[in-house]
Amino acid sequence: MPAMKNSKPSSLSGGELAVAVWLLFAGLVSFVTAQQEHAPAGPLTGNWVVRVPNTDGTFRETYLNLKQEGARITGSIRVTQFYYLITESTGGPEGFTLEGTMKDGQSTRRVRYEGKLVGDELHLSTRRRPEDKPTELVARRAPEGEGALPARIPPPARHPVPDNGLAKTPPMGWNSWNKFAGRINDATVRQIADAMASNGMREAGYLYINIDDTWEGGRDARGNIQTNKKFPDMKALADYVHGKGLKLGIYSSPGPNTCAGYEGSYGHEAQDARTYAAWGIDYLKYDWCGARTIYTDEEMPPIYQKMGDALQATGRPIVYSLCQYGRLDVWKWGAEVGGNLWRTTGDIRDSWDSMSRIGFGQEGLEPWARPGHWNDPDMLEIGNGGMSETEYQTHLSLWSMLAAPLLAGNDLRSVSPEILQILTNREVIAVDQDKDGKQGKRVWQSGEQEIWTRPLSGGALAVAIFNRAKESARVTFRWAEVGVSGKAHVRDLWEHQDLEWSGPEYSGVTPGHGVVMWRVTP
Ligand code: GLA
Repeated sequence: MPAMKNSKPSSLSGGELAVAVWLLFAGLVSFVTAQQEHAPAGPLTGNWVVRVPNTDGTFRETYLNLKQEGARITGSIRVTQFYYLITESTGGPEGFTLEGTMKDGQSTRRVRYEGKLVGDELHLSTRRRPEDKPTELVARRAPEGEGALPARIPPPARHPVPDNGLAKTPPMGWNSWNKFAGRINDATVRQIADAMASNGMREAGYLYINIDDTWEGGRDARGNIQTNKKFPDMKALADYVHGKGLKLGIYSSPGPNTCAGYEGSYGHEAQDARTYAAWGIDYLKYDWCGARTIYTDEEMPPIYQKMGDALQATGRPIVYSLCQYGRLDVWKWGAEVGGNLWRTTGDIRDSWDSMSRIGFGQEGLEPWARPGHWNDPDMLEIGNGGMSETEYQTHLSLWSMLAAPLLAGNDLRSVSPEILQILTNREVIAVDQDKDGKQGKRVWQSGEQEIWTRPLSGGALAVAIFNRAKESARVTFRWAEVGVSGKAHVRDLWEHQDLEWSGPEYSGVTPGHGVVMWRVTP
């Protein structure tokens, strides 16, 4: 059979709006179909599902909703939370290829499948990148409509969400994602709570234990969100965590699905907020992810406002953490929609490159941080093994200079004394938690060495000399250049000792990828 390309919906895609493209899709398909001879529906036509079991009783699902007419296959492919339009196809039942595309903000995502019909199954193979080993999958017929994109609920009218009075200093605690991802469960959360309550972290200020993605089950007949097998009783877990003098956080998405493909809060915002409150939840991280298939980036503020309202309506104090990777200058509207903190970047990884790129890239956002409302450059990777202790000291120092949330992301059940010492450096934490809530900024730079300062309450100043080079470097500067005029008292926050005042100039060595951090009091 000759290969034939489908027409791309290029005439419609100028408007960047994934939603518009999607809504116009049905019309486009019939228009394109009308231009061609009618062929009878081929055997590939139908709704197909690949169901891969997770260990928690849920499934990762991929739906292929196909229409085959001769050598043309059109339709859509849904992979967890991503809905792609089939924009190219070749072949037929005995061997075909499909390419799906979706708009995601400024970029386009693609999926590609090869497959053939075997009996009443589709045998498929796909790879993320051309160089990857292909993943083999089997799709079976699913009822028409299953897995389809839900109808669009129009965003609410904008109004300011009143301040909830929480997070007067940047939230501190722990989050499950960086270390455990999908492997987090009830027992582990309890053990982490035990650890945090007994290893000095709680006393150092770490309070929230936040369960990230993959706790979700489906919904019951009344639409109430269920936990999956990994979390048999969320209320009991919250009671346990509260019993340790700690607080419990949870995760969801404004979309139908979360990033990991689990159930999101779409259309159930108020109901979910009430469920969280009934469980005793104290913190919600709300992750855009699956919402991108329904809403545009420009619609983020009213969509986040909806959950902001819903949380407040519960009457329970719940810290609201926005996670949409810093799109649409979230720092300008995050507080108005009820947010206590908002992610400013994509996901951090446990490497010097990732951490330093994100951390040093926060320059310019300092006007937006204030008590109750924080820029969030993502969670800590301290102790996860991908960086040296020196680099982890830089990580904590930089986050503290930025007045960033301090959410540890390592396995606290087996933390080494060295890592614990970094995480619980109270003098550095005191900078992060300074009550004035002013975010620091870069004030001096020479090659790969830079100095950041942060005004502290009572007229003090936090000063951090960062050396971004691999090798150690001598840094020499005049105090006046970093805003210190006249003699001052200088406290080294990592050495835990007072420095002798050396006159108008300072000269000292900072280790490679390291930091020297002070509290300077005039
Ligand atoms: C996104 C978020 C991460 C994490 C995962 C969970 O990638 O940015 O922090 O919550 O989703 O699926």
